Amino acid sequence: MTHIGSFQIHHTDGPARSGELVTAHGVVPTPIFMPVGTQGTVKSLSPDDLENLGARIILGNTYHLYLRPGDELVARRGGLHRFANWPHPILTDSGGFQVFSLAGLRELSEEGVTFRSHIDGSKHFFSPEKVIDIQRNLGSDIMMVLDECVPYGADHAYTEKSLQLTTRWAKRCREAYPRGAGDQLVFGIVQGGFFEDLRRQSAEQICALDCEGFAIGGLSVGESKQEMHDILQCTAPLLPSAKPRYLMGVGTPLDILNGIAAGVDMFDCVLPTRNARNGTLFTSQGKVNIKRAEYQEDDSRLDPACGCYTCRTFSKAYLRHLYTSRELLSYRLNTIHNLTFFLDLVCGAREAIAAGTFASYKKGFEAVYET
Ligand code: GUN
Ligand code: ZN
Repeated sequence: MTHIGSFQIHHTDGPARSGELVTAHGVVPTPIFMPVGTQGTVKSLSPDDLENLGARIILGNTYHLYLRPGDELVARRGGLHRFANWPHPILTDSGGFQVFSLAGLRELSEEGVTFRSHIDGSKHFFSPEKVIDIQRNLGSDIMMVLDECVPYGADHAYTEKSLQLTTRWAKRCREAYPRGAGDQLVFGIVQGGFFEDLRRQSAEQICALDCEGFAIGGLSVGESKQEMHDILQCTAPLLPSAKPRYLMGVGTPLDILNGIAAGVDMFDCVLPTRNARNGTLFTSQGKVNIKRAEYQEDDSRLDPACGCYTCRTFSKAYLRHLYTSRELLSYRLNTIHNLTFFLDLVCGAREAIAAGTFASYKKGFEAVYET
């Protein structure tokens, strides 16, 4: 039972589970955090860096790579793994979310979505079939279906119409790449905004499709922590327990632990990488803003509990100097540390689930992180 797409759960601890997902480019231990590599690169890091900090799967974006350098150009270079020299698993988002958050002048129809490039204003069209085609050219291990990420505040009527369109698009994506058509996996996306009945309706429709995994979309779009928590708690149990569950674009260390507690297996977020570049660092003692004057002559390590290259090698005073001087090395060292923190977080979660101690593991972070 180790064919591509197989998902084995090894341990459970309440709704939390740990397991392994088999992809064409390797086995992914779950729960897992996926560093974001929008343009085919995790900003400031080399594949060697990623390898050394233990990243197992990274995320790429259909929208960005289609616009630049173009998915056909990537295909001619042998696909994204070869082009970017990353031999491990890659998940690509469908472009649904990016079209709605970045592109200009969107026009939605049954057929798909027309939009203008945020780079040069040129006009483009994504259909469900088109985004599968693009992701085929990229050669990602996990392809996401085209969806509409409903904006926060959308009313019940709009959200219901939207989730039904997302279902029809998801069906067309699956039909464009039937199970076993190749080595790539297709994940469906549940929408439904902040209405529990609509989350239920979306989950029923999406999970009826024969996808290799299922995602929860439409969260972390401006709602309160309580709203996110409530929708997560109501939606996660509606996804088939035998398949991987992916919470898209979430989140903080506590959001991730909450997701794991609800039975989610996969996460991605720009938070560790973006915050690294802004000088906000996640540590075992909470967040550190490295630009603060108090670190000017601080010879101590950033996080004594962290084994990353940055923490093994440099003082806070030096990291502050690099940051305040806008030195390029600052981006790399901070990113190495923050990603190590997020990957250690999920690694610790896997171990705690196996040991049956996940609740106290989570409490330990709640004592340090408030949101
Ligand atoms: N990334 C974060 N949220 C979403 C979502 O709802 N849909 C897609 N496709 N990607 C996302
Ligand atoms: Zn570190």
